[in-house]
Amino acid sequence: MTMPRSTALRQTRADFPFFQRRPGQVYLDSAATSQPPRVVLDAERTFTETAYAAVHRGASAATGSATTAFESARARIARFVGAGDDEIVWTENATDAINLLAWSLTDAAHEGGDGPWVLHPGDEIVITEAEHHANLVPWQRLAARTGAVLRAVPVDDEGLWTIDALAGVVSDRTRLIAFAHISNVTGFVAPVEDVVALAARHGALTFLDACQSAPHRPLDLHGLGVDFAAFSAHKMLGPTGIGVLYGRAALLNALPPGRTGGSAITTVTLESAGFLPAPHRFEPGTQPVVQAVGFAAAADYLAGLGMPAVAEREHHLAQALVDTVVRVPGVRIIGPAAGAERAALVSFVVDGVHPHDVGQFLDDRGVTVRTGHHCAQPLHRRLGVPATTRASAYVYTTDDDIAALGEALAEVRGFFGADR
Ligand code: ALA
Repeated sequence: MTMPRSTALRQTRADFPFFQRRPGQVYLDSAATSQPPRVVLDAERTFTETAYAAVHRGASAATGSATTAFESARARIARFVGAGDDEIVWTENATDAINLLAWSLTDAAHEGGDGPWVLHPGDEIVITEAEHHANLVPWQRLAARTGAVLRAVPVDDEGLWTIDALAGVVSDRTRLIAFAHISNVTGFVAPVEDVVALAARHGALTFLDACQSAPHRPLDLHGLGVDFAAFSAHKMLGPTGIGVLYGRAALLNALPPGRTGGSAITTVTLESAGFLPAPHRFEPGTQPVVQAVGFAAAADYLAGLGMPAVAEREHHLAQALVDTVVRVPGVRIIGPAAGAERAALVSFVVDGVHPHDVGQFLDDRGVTVRTGHHCAQPLHRRLGVPATTRASAYVYTTDDDIAALGEALAEVRGFFGADR
């Protein structure tokens, strides 16, 4: 299929107010956070102006219609990722979702009982050396609270891991394998089905960090067979302040709520409380209602573009990013080699120039990228670099944006005298 480059892209770009307000801006930091289209802003504003009220509280007509909008948003997100409505727990973002799951598993361990989710001292939680801190530190804390052991799959010199390397770390003590679907640093795409099959052979649960996949390619959580997953709205054209913890319904209903308060409960006495079925048992307190409405509008917008078309477009953008960056003398990319599958992001180092200087130089030329360790210090340590510069694309990225990156990058080493 030919790439729907120029025409489709111009149409897409026009949907985003940010680029109309800042026409010269080259925004290549969508892996950090994405720009919302007008339909998301309109949905939030219309809901706020016409239907905003408390949800799941009281018996007013206003509450009823706000609750309908809120639960409709949940259903649309569930459909977008191939999940059931009762398997989508609203959280603040993906980091919050992982912490919620870690606290819930902590309580499950302390309460005891049977089930693969009940951790015992000496049980193992397996992650990879490439994980974002959000998919690492909460598991460190869970291990510390339960006596479980955290084990990491080593990566190679490019920051990549294999199913064989994972198989070398997983054992019959493994209770949970937590891994990113797509690395936010290397763009590596994990072999999810193979991990799920490996976990099943050892009776382990799986957690998928879908932050960099849910926005960019079709995602079918039931089809993949993972037990838990998390993703954030703001990386997929939606608002900040809302994300999702996905869990298989039977698992969510078996787990303690992790955090508690009003509206997640059935009966409360001064001594104890009963909890609603999932997902509401995990949602105490006033919910992110406006954010949910905006998030669903973002998912509808992406579904309207067609996620296969988004993935195809990003395949082109990934190759264009790699081709552009590798062409610059003295620049080395991290992650899959040119031509190999990767997401539409590329992290790189420039010989003789610190990544922060690279980022500053590009910024001065109107090209927004991210510099630093991208919340993945162990990975950068393994790669022997303190930091990298990362350019990442999304549906509104144009070929001209990537050309502008290439032109600015070509000047960096000369500007800093690193080419002499
Ligand atoms: N996880 C986001 C990133 O990689 C913040 O930039």
